Amino acid sequence: MNLTGNTILITGGASGIGLALAQRFVQAGSTVIVCGRRADKLREAQQQVPGLQVRTCDLASPAERVALRDWAVGQFPQLNVLINNAGVQRRLQVADPEDWAARQQEIAINFEAPVQLAELFIPHLRQQPAAAIVNVTSGLAFTPPAFAPIYGATKAALHSFTVALRHQLRNTRIEVLEIVPPAVNTDLGGAGLHNFGVPVAEFADAVLARLAAGELEVGFGTSEERRLASRSELDAATEAMNARFS
Ligand SMILES: NC(=O)c1ccc[n+]([C@@H]2O[C@H](COP(=O)([O-])OP(=O)(O)OC[C@H]3O[C@@H](n4cnc5c(N)ncnc54)[C@H](OP(=O)(O)O)[C@@H]3O)[C@@H](O)[C@H]2O)c1
Repeated sequence: MNLTGNTILITGGASGIGLALAQRFVQAGSTVIVCGRRADKLREAQQQVPGLQVRTCDLASPAERVALRDWAVGQFPQLNVLINNAGVQRRLQVADPEDWAARQQEIAINFEAPVQLAELFIPHLRQQPAAAIVNVTSGLAFTPPAFAPIYGATKAALHSFTVALRHQLRNTRIEVLEIVPPAVNTDLGGAGLHNFGVPVAEFADAVLARLAAGELEVGFGTSEERRLASRSELDAATEAMNARFS
């Protein structure tokens, strides 16, 4: 992927991995738009990254996904890259009773939104000289986590969708890429839960270098091992992780 001269929409790009990617794409000479629910976070991101464009939106809502597409292609007709990065992680026991709406929201943000945004943006992306859809999954797509069972399932689904979409768009100018983060030190799931993870800057630098080199599926550390592992290696890693966390 060429890092320069793009117009890129990064969902959830006001913090964590999305913000680190936004900073690097701007430095490489692309225009970047980020969206998220928290207006204060978007303002802070704008202060950190000169020229960053921002938009509030809640991607749990199908109508807000449509409104985001309409606004983005209206304001930025050269938009040629969609990075589906927004995500949430909820730690829960499946048997604990709670409102279905809380569980459905995690599925809506992590999986339904990237699927609908792909559908909404593909007609626009087809008209660009070069375009890409980049989905951010997780090493947990390959090793189901007992501590966050819905999260892991949404990421496995998004990995599957990404591979299928790549095949569907094979004969178009739209590349379909996947970033597969390991544990990265961000506020995902709540402050402090991922402070054992790798530094976000180190991760983002490595990802950008590999995207620039033309790779379509990029992991880092343990997620690189997992995306390439055999079934028996994945079973062993899943067993070890779930023994440690339960
Ligand atoms: N950190 C890790 O260890 C790790 C590992 C594997 C994969 N990932 C994935 O990496 C991606 C980025 O996560 P992160 O680690 O950078 O955590 P993060 O800092 O919490 O970033 C998540 C972003 O998504 C946005 N978001 C959440 N719900 C949204 C919604 N309904 N509508 C619009 N935006 C929404 C959040 O902004 P608002 O709250 O303001 O909406 C936030 O900016 C996620 O997909 C995550 O699953 C992270």
